Amino acid sequence: MASDVLDFLDRDQLGAAAARIAKTLRPGDALALSGDLGAGKTTFVRALVRAMHGSDVPVSSPTFIFRQRYDGTPPIEHLDLYRIDDPADAAELGLEEAFGPDRITVVEWPERLPGLLPAGAIRIRIEGAGDEPRRLQIER
Ligand SMILES: Nc1ncnc2c1ncn2[C@@H]1O[C@H](COP(=O)(O)OP(=O)(O)O)[C@@H](O)[C@H]1O
Ligand SMILES: [Mg+2]
Repeated sequence: MASDVLDFLDRDQLGAAAARIAKTLRPGDALALSGDLGAGKTTFVRALVRAMHGSDVPVSSPTFIFRQRYDGTPPIEHLDLYRIDDPADAAELGLEEAFGPDRITVVEWPERLPGLLPAGAIRIRIEGAGDEPRRLQIER
């Protein structure tokens, strides 16, 4: 496993890091995005989708629907598990269908459903809050 740290990132630099990481992703990849509320997970996903699809589709936290899909090549699935308290509640949501060899799947709050992510998922933790610079830890 390779591990990397990017530190002192302002918002634009965090977006640029997401765009660089986007270039390394292949269909079938899963990305676990950890960090506190307001750390910048959704900001990261927005930059990733823009870099991969070249468009400015609205990317927000799919908090109430848990799952959002951005059509493009490849399609990007965006899960936000923040509101899942009990893994048993999640069973009927069919979230495993958001993963597949033809798409990239990005998951905010992956620790809410530890069994959902495939073993080979790339793990990114964002640290920092408010207007402070962010630190990204990447394990792949
Ligand atoms: N360096 C930075 N990197 C990322 N976001 C930042 C940074 N500085 C300020 N922000 C702001 O912090 C907020 C992060 O919100 P969001 O991406 O929704 O977080 P999360 O999805 O982790 O809860 C945004 O309003 C963003 O503009
Ligand atoms: Mg979010």
